[in-house]
Amino acid sequence: MDNRIITSDLLVDEEIDVTLRPKFFSDYIGQKDVKEMIQIAVQAAKKRNESLDHVLLYGPPGLGKTTLAQVIANELEVSIKSVSGPTVERTGDLAAILTSLEPGDVLFIDEIHRLPKIVEEILYSSMEDYVIDIVVGKDSGAKSIRVDLSPFTLIGATTRFGDLTGPLRDRFGIVHKLEFYNTKDLETICKRTAGIYECEAEAKAILELAKRSRGTPRIVNRLFRRVRDFADILGNGFITFDITTTALNKLKIDEKGLDNKDREYLLGIIEKYQGGPVGIDTIATSISEDPTTLEDVYEPYLIQQGFISRTPRGRIVTEKAYKHLKKSFQGAMF
Ligand SMILES: Nc1ncnc2c1ncn2[C@@H]1O[C@H](COP(=O)(O)OP(=O)(O)O)[C@@H](O)[C@H]1O
Ligand SMILES: [Mg+2]
Repeated sequence: MDNRIITSDLLVDEEIDVTLRPKFFSDYIGQKDVKEMIQIAVQAAKKRNESLDHVLLYGPPGLGKTTLAQVIANELEVSIKSVSGPTVERTGDLAAILTSLEPGDVLFIDEIHRLPKIVEEILYSSMEDYVIDIVVGKDSGAKSIRVDLSPFTLIGATTRFGDLTGPLRDRFGIVHKLEFYNTKDLETICKRTAGIYECEAEAKAILELAKRSRGTPRIVNRLFRRVRDFADILGNGFITFDITTTALNKLKIDEKGLDNKDREYLLGIIEKYQGGPVGIDTIATSISEDPTTLEDVYEPYLIQQGFISRTPRGRIVTEKAYKHLKKSFQGAMF
């Protein structure tokens, strides 16, 4: 069976600039505890000459799940095949990829919670016993053939741990949540980015970028590129603190890293629903945004910052958020 075409069709590469993506543990900054645990598991697997246990990484977008999957494969010195959950539509697609893996290889499935149910079911036996059952033929002539696979490592990534089915979750031996990065780690990441782009920047400028990046490496890199544009146009390319604040203010990124959408969300709840509680679907409709995007992309940081809380009756904007937005707080209405 020639499966190369199918596999390449399903390849994903979401990164704007792959040169920024760390390749080994040594340049994967922060996430100290997760990194340490995975490093040990990787070393042990290599020492025993076995495939690494299946790994599940979850957390908000941009925190380094895809990067870490690639780092793991590089450190294991194996190939990685990457697919995105929703693009694997048929069981045959997954079977083709699985049978193409060499011993020890990594299969990375991004957005694994969006894998169609029937495709997910193929994963169970492949993860547990490295076999799959493929049905060939039709109707009365249909029969199931068992195919042996090479021992491999599945790395799954998801923004929605809660959407994974129990049977799938249970089959991962190594499960880690990636957390938002602290300012110090983001400064280190930003300095590294400046170095890769051969840009000079004031320490204060780097600190400012780190503080306004909502704990997210992807965002610190994105903002760095925008600020670099300003530095090239307004100055001689040197990234000063003044240029940085000018650029970030023009981009409407505030001191806490909130952007227009975050403010729209918070002000929407404050102005239309007296600060909540209000259901996510109601908020989403009122600001014309998709509820899943709000839940996966916007809310995690707002919750981490203590700007909203999630209650069984809906979202509530906290006093801290009122203060931040310079709104007078009358006390929540619950
Ligand atoms: N630990 C890290 N150290 C340095 N840069 C990182 C780290 N994690 C992520 N990045 C940067 O952020 C970008 C986005 O990370 P990515 O792995 O795509 O996030 P996710 O898959 O969780 O959405 C990467 O391309 C990389 O440049
Ligand atoms: Mg990713």
